[in-house]
Amino acid sequence: MPKLTINGREIQVPEERTVLEACREHGIHVPTLCYHPALEPYGACRLCMVEVSSPPRPSRLVASCVHPCEKGAVVETASDAVKQSRRTTIELLLAGAHTDPTLLALAEEYGVKEIRFTLPEEDLCVLCGLCVRACREIVGVSAISLINRGMARKVSTPFQIASSTCIACGTCVLICPTDAIKLKDITHFHSVHGADSEYERVYCQVCGDVDLSPVAIQDVETLIEATMDQEVDHE
Ligand code: SF4
Ligand code: FES
Repeated sequence: MPKLTINGREIQVPEERTVLEACREHGIHVPTLCYHPALEPYGACRLCMVEVSSPPRPSRLVASCVHPCEKGAVVETASDAVKQSRRTTIELLLAGAHTDPTLLALAEEYGVKEIRFTLPEEDLCVLCGLCVRACREIVGVSAISLINRGMARKVSTPFQIASSTCIACGTCVLICPTDAIKLKDITHFHSVHGADSEYERVYCQVCGDVDLSPVAIQDVETLIEATMDQEVDHE
């Protein structure tokens, strides 16, 4: 079991723990936004940065949610460099989501008074990827993903049309830390945040289960055609 020092406390952790997990298990507060214990860590928001030194290497800032506990490492979770890094990250996150209560509370905690960067239009999505990973890893349908690059990056459905695989479970709504996805975005028109097209779901009147919407029917037709092609190949 690796032994390391966090904020002057020597602690021993089981193999394969990340620094964030070790901190949480020992009651040491590290802020996070894109981390959820039920999901694979992603390292996107950079809020969880801590300072790590593993002599003789000089100290460096790392994302604690993806950084493994190394034997003999010395970790500082609230050094000046860590606090400065978090202040800048909070400012950047607030650039688009400047009314989000979670981020405003963090700004208060870290003394961020001025926001030097602002986007012309408010966008509550901070691209943490929690919704996308929850849809894939927990629900298992991968109805949404992060698309585009740079300023155009956003959460959307494949080809930005309403998803035929979304089951409207609301997991993305519940896990989003900034309320960027609203329940109505995925229920009434059965579309999700960022989708450009909308269609109403129509269910089979007999079983109530089968989605009779054009996209879903098209999926089934494609599947049937592919199956028939395979059968012809085997003849
Ligand atoms: S919609 Fe919410 S959960 Fe999804 S990436 Fe944006 S902020 Fe994260
Ligand atoms: S919680 Fe570690 S990078 Fe977001």
